[in-house]
Amino acid sequence: MSDESRPSPPAAPAAARTAAVIPAAGRGVRLGPGAPKALRALSGTPMLIHAVRALAASRAVSLVVVVAPPDGAAEVRSLLDAYALPERTDFLVVPGGQTRQESVKLGLDALPSGHDIVLVHDAARPLVPVDTVDAVIEAVRDGAPAVVPALPLADTVKQVEPARAPGEPEPVVATPERALLRAVQTPQGFDRATLVRAHETVTGEVTDDAGMVEQLGLTVVAVPGHEEAFKVTRPLDLVLAEAVLARRRLNDGF
Ligand code: CTP
Ligand code: MG
Repeated sequence: MSDESRPSPPAAPAAARTAAVIPAAGRGVRLGPGAPKALRALSGTPMLIHAVRALAASRAVSLVVVVAPPDGAAEVRSLLDAYALPERTDFLVVPGGQTRQESVKLGLDALPSGHDIVLVHDAARPLVPVDTVDAVIEAVRDGAPAVVPALPLADTVKQVEPARAPGEPEPVVATPERALLRAVQTPQGFDRATLVRAHETVTGEVTDDAGMVEQLGLTVVAVPGHEEAFKVTRPLDLVLAEAVLARRRLNDGF
């Protein structure tokens, strides 16, 4: 892939260096009791290490900033030292915050200068293929201020009037046209200055970083996501993740 031969848009030139911020500070309440989610093992290796390797597998990524559980920065640093990671990539660890949004902001604050493209990637998406990472970076290089990997939905989605008590029937209010909906994954990619501005100016609850850029009135574009970039959220997702890893081992022949 000769990215160098592409015409370079002024905002994020082809030579722009890419940094990845990996929020990994969540507890993983929906996964059930145990260690913080990012530190739980998949095939014997912590989920976070899978996620770091997945991002560092892109040749464009020269720095990975891991946002660790607030009391777990030292443990994460020793994990990064213990597992083999690419020589060409630098690593930084910072302690995270109470919300994902805060954790991403703390990661952004720690970024040194010299990286004009920033990816934000959930540690809870350990199996994202490198082709997806590269497709996001390429769309930012092509001039988009914000890029999300996204997939069409399998399920029809209903908007409801949320129940006042758990388990109560919920009146359905609307059925958005499924063909127009996408499920959004990470890594999400940004022109760095745009993402920093979004985190400095947008307040209120958001569930993804691109949503903050939308609130600035800028265009966010979606590129094809990948089914292996699913988020490990509930116990069944661990079963799926192990199965994906087993299939990869078979395909790799070891
Ligand atoms: N995250 C974070 N800081 C927080 C909360 C979440 O860095 N205060 C990170 C998680 O570690 C995860 C990503 O944001 O990699 C996506 O969040 P989610 O899947 O919701 O993870 P958790 O918040 O850990 O899980 P749960 O909501 O079930 O507790
Ligand atoms: Mg959460």
